[in-house]
Amino acid sequence: MKKVLVTGSNGQLGTYVVDQLNSDFLVIPSEKMGINSIKLDITSRKNVSEVLKKYDPDVVINCAALTNVDACERFKDKAQQINVVGLKNIVNLSTKKTKIIQVSTDYVFDGKEKMYFEDSIPNPINVYGRTKLEAENFLRGSNKDFLILRTSSVFSHDFNSFFHWVYNNLLMKNKIKVASDMFSTPTWSRSLAVAIQKSIIMNLSGLYHYAGLNPISRLHFSKLICRYFNLDESLLIASKSIDMNFVAKRPVLSNISSKKIEKEICFASLNTEHCLRQISNLIS
Ligand SMILES: NC(=O)c1ccc[n+]([C@@H]2O[C@H](COP(=O)([O-])OP(=O)(O)OC[C@H]3O[C@@H](n4cnc5c(N)ncnc54)[C@H](OP(=O)(O)O)[C@@H]3O)[C@@H](O)[C@H]2O)c1
Repeated sequence: MKKVLVTGSNGQLGTYVVDQLNSDFLVIPSEKMGINSIKLDITSRKNVSEVLKKYDPDVVINCAALTNVDACERFKDKAQQINVVGLKNIVNLSTKKTKIIQVSTDYVFDGKEKMYFEDSIPNPINVYGRTKLEAENFLRGSNKDFLILRTSSVFSHDFNSFFHWVYNNLLMKNKIKVASDMFSTPTWSRSLAVAIQKSIIMNLSGLYHYAGLNPISRLHFSKLICRYFNLDESLLIASKSIDMNFVAKRPVLSNISSKKIEKEICFASLNTEHCLRQISNLIS
């Protein structure tokens, strides 16, 4: 059985990945989960080296990151350490046989195109996107077997995400401003975990996108959340992205196509409404 080390295993995606992979692989979560768990700070060379030596994984899935886009802009050094140096440590300290799966982002693009593909030219407009692209480029330039999987607006009901923020605020009857001009392809973390599982089984290497099927604005997504969870749509205040007081610039269009990976792993990108229906079944 392949040994798979998951970094950032307490985060949104890491948690779903650990859960999804458990049936097929010997999963080593990096943080405080179950008896096999270990504590791993990817910015520490010493820590990464000890963990890699001890567990000697066949695959490392790097789900660890500083994902708060505004925090990355405010704390550039911290973003660099976690998003770039962390991956470099994993690459430099792992053995030749270890495959590295790096989860990356639609924010490597500038948001000027309606749809981004694997051969689209990256042009990040904020620190988060720049650090994630630097990590991608480092991995591509290494001699490792790698898979870079870019995704978009990951959501789940039980972790911090746009869905979670909208759902909780509306549940508490708070009015919230949501942008009508910001589009992405929202990705349910469970479906992304399945895509990662299938990518390992198919031994996929290179650069791929996996995200939700349909480009959708934040406002439209919020309205769907109202519909599927019976929440009050009148609490949504339609706004423009320039009125949102973000610290970091964001690409207004960050839609990525999953067509390339769908064929390889025989797993379709999912429609947002389908995912919301599944979540409503889970939490009702
Ligand atoms: N969320 C999105 O919308 C989105 C969109 C596109 C791509 N992605 C990518 O998807 C991946 C997973 O994101 P996510 O949504 O699961 O984010 P998340 O919930 O913020 O999880 C990130 C995890 O990384 C951990 N971490 C931070 N610094 C670390 C360090 N030095 N060593 C080890 N672990 C560390 C965090 O732990 P603490 O919480 O304890 O700091 C957290 O558990 C990331 O690579 C992200 O760039 C996410």
